[in-house]
Amino acid sequence: MDGIDNHSHLHYLYPMFVCICNQVTDGQIKDAVNNGASSFSDVQSELGVATQCGECKNHARQCMRSCRNQCQSNVVSDNTPANEYVVNVV
Ligand code: FES
Repeated sequence: MDGIDNHSHLHYLYPMFVCICNQVTDGQIKDAVNNGASSFSDVQSELGVATQCGECKNHARQCMRSCRNQCQSNVVSDNTPANEYVVNVV
């Protein structure tokens, strides 16, 4: 064995809470984006993320970007034009 894997893999088993105030997980944010939420306001409206203390706002946006990038790489792999799937993160 060349090294020690210090990264937790528990996020594959358990959802990661992004917004504690509203109990919103990263999976819910990704589902919202995959189901058509095209802006952060859309995700806020649907899930209530970042509508109380606001501490989760940056992380929630990061989840959206991550999902968008993943969606775009999937688009490239199935030869569908990427410009049809662009999601705006505001
Ligand atoms: S942690 Fe999301 S609004 Fe407080």
